[in-house]
Amino acid sequence: MEMHDILKTIYQEVKPLASKGEVADYIPQLSFISPDKLAISVHNVDGSCYEVGDSDTPFSIQSISKVFGYTLAFKVLGPDIWKRLDKEPSGNSFNSLVQLEYERGIPRNPFINAGAIVIADIILSHYPNPQQTLLDFVRGITNEPSIRYNHDVATSEKLTGYRNTALAYLMKSFKNIHNSVEDVLDFYFLQCSLEMSSKNLSKSFLYLANHGIVPSTNEQILTVSQSKRISALMLTCGLYNESGDFAYRVGMPAKSGVGGGVVAIIPKKLSICVWSPPLNRFGNSLAGIEALEKFTTYTGDSIF
Ligand code: DON
Repeated sequence: MEMHDILKTIYQEVKPLASKGEVADYIPQLSFISPDKLAISVHNVDGSCYEVGDSDTPFSIQSISKVFGYTLAFKVLGPDIWKRLDKEPSGNSFNSLVQLEYERGIPRNPFINAGAIVIADIILSHYPNPQQTLLDFVRGITNEPSIRYNHDVATSEKLTGYRNTALAYLMKSFKNIHNSVEDVLDFYFLQCSLEMSSKNLSKSFLYLANHGIVPSTNEQILTVSQSKRISALMLTCGLYNESGDFAYRVGMPAKSGVGGGVVAIIPKKLSICVWSPPLNRFGNSLAGIEALEKFTTYTGDSIF
């Protein structure tokens, strides 16, 4: 089958599944999205792209932004980043507090909320204008100057972000947050509020699918080794306590967000984004995960 036909088939097959999930509402602003939205976009490293559904509609990328934040922090700190965080799967939900107390304020990995909050703190300490730097970075790798933060979503999360606030203060008590908690959370919420379409999200992950280099411009974002390491973290931690099941069923490094997006890559080959807002019990897109399992099954391609 041609790629476009594969995507159309998957679209039809997963469309009815979305009704089994729940749109995130703990960030009130996210609850207004239509649960019927569905998009699949594929970008190959050779420049070709394929899409079906609502692939031009921007949505809240939420935790997918943690990959961009981590990229910026890793670029400045290199391996010293591991003084502030670990690189192990957590086996807990993305906003869990329990492990952080036992492990003295060192988050298990950069993709759970605690880890991404430490990354936000690192970015604040090393970049003079972090908000603009992050936005310029995402606009640059997609060549899409219209990408923007959604300040209503960021404010909505700030007003109800009790668990993230608890995580940040707990880490501050262990001296693992260096800036003010309020500044760190403001940046973290803004980062999560980035809005991108599935088309732009799949394009944005091409630097990871292409060993650290943006294929369309040849710009080197990361070294081969750094790119390998981020992909490894996505495989082991990108879907929180569903990461093992996802690696088993799908076999691609990936990152999800509570806005219903999931982006996955096959190194040297492609990046794929699926967007369907209703989530499963792990906080990952229900139809999105099913679509990605079908994608590696029907194409016969995965990292294994
Ligand atoms: O901090 C939060 O809870 C959200 N801004 C992001 C969480 C998220 O996207 C988890 N992903 N599946």
